[in-house]
Amino acid sequence: MPFRIAVIPGDGIGPEVIAQGMRVLNAVTADSGSALEFVNYDLGAERYLRTGEILPDAVFSELRASDAIYLGAVGDPRVDNPQYAAGLLLRLRFELDLWVNLRPSRLLAPGLTPLRDAESIDLIVVRENTEGAYVGIGGQFKRGTADEIAIQEDINTRKGVERIQRYAFELAGQRHKAGHRGRLTMVDKSNALYHAHDLWQRVFVSERERFPEIEAEHLFVDAAAMQLVKDPGRFDVVVTTNMFGDILSDLASELVGGLGQAPSANINPQTRRGLFEPVHGSAPKHAGKGIANPVGAILAGAMMLRYLGDAVGADQIEAAVMASARERRTTRDLGGSLTTTAAADAILNALAMREFKSSSAS
Ligand code: NAD
Ligand code: IPM
Ligand code: MN
Repeated sequence: MPFRIAVIPGDGIGPEVIAQGMRVLNAVTADSGSALEFVNYDLGAERYLRTGEILPDAVFSELRASDAIYLGAVGDPRVDNPQYAAGLLLRLRFELDLWVNLRPSRLLAPGLTPLRDAESIDLIVVRENTEGAYVGIGGQFKRGTADEIAIQEDINTRKGVERIQRYAFELAGQRHKAGHRGRLTMVDKSNALYHAHDLWQRVFVSERERFPEIEAEHLFVDAAAMQLVKDPGRFDVVVTTNMFGDILSDLASELVGGLGQAPSANINPQTRRGLFEPVHGSAPKHAGKGIANPVGAILAGAMMLRYLGDAVGADQIEAAVMASARERRTTRDLGGSLTTTAAADAILNALAMREFKSSSAS
């Protein structure tokens, strides 16, 4: 039985990068033996503008029944409904209870970091994905008047905070075994948000006791942003809230070559459901020009493949991406001069030639 992958190309550059991701996934799985069946869903701004539908319940049920969701991007300047992204992307994260958002940042090739002295950067942001300021609890009062009040609550539950921190401690342990530093950094703002993030602090103390072998530290989010730029090599696993994870993962992406190459996985380790997408958005100013970097989508495809059990295929994609990046056979944002399709061709070529076999050892 092939894995049934629900594909939501979405808006802006989403369809362009997802098309390349599917080409790469098809090529790799033809070899590795895992079979993927892609089912396309025309959710997104076009459909919303045409029909008023964001995510019909019947479609949601089909997405829930799929083995994984592969998504491009959501966001279109023509849509003036502020709840559009919440109705599609956030609804999937919340209602499928995809409580872990994994956002790795690995320097694909030397010279791709804007930092002066960084030699190796290889960290992963573990973003809480179902709580925080994102849940939509709040409201507006006296809207549009001088007395207006706007409230958006920051929700932190013991269950939610505990499960994400525990996941991050376990991941740090696994990474340590795999040869990484294995250090965990918990990031919050408990000096100012002394109700909500005091919970993060207390959970951190108790989880730390459960994992005495893990090197663990705490940073306030402002200092974490500073340290990411000053000394990114000190980070391995960073666990943080929904909102801080959103911000720090864009920052971390830029340290290793830019948003265009950054992948992410939204997962529920219990149900094994997952939604895989690049970290970037729909980049409207680049849409339709054939210049968007497909690497974020392609590496998100590799994360999906790994999650579905095909580690060999995932390793091959990652190695082929690195081989192409080393030679700057990339789009402009990674220092090359290729179009979206040509950048994916280079990766497909590296895969076909198995170029990475010799070069990945160096
Ligand atoms: P964005 O991530 O779309 O783009 C920011 C900038 O990053 C772009 O202008 C571009 O210079 C660069 N960039 C991003 N992806 C790139 C790629 N693949 N190749 C080359 N360069 C790339 O962020 P934004 O401009 O703040 O948001 C645009 C829209 O996307 C908004 O509607 C926003 O809500 C939405 N958005 C969606 C997601 C998502 O679907 N997961 C994520 C972020 C933003
Ligand atoms: C992301 C995006 C989303 C988020 C937006 C589109 C709601 O920025 O996936 O990083 O903030 O989670
Ligand atoms: Mn974001």
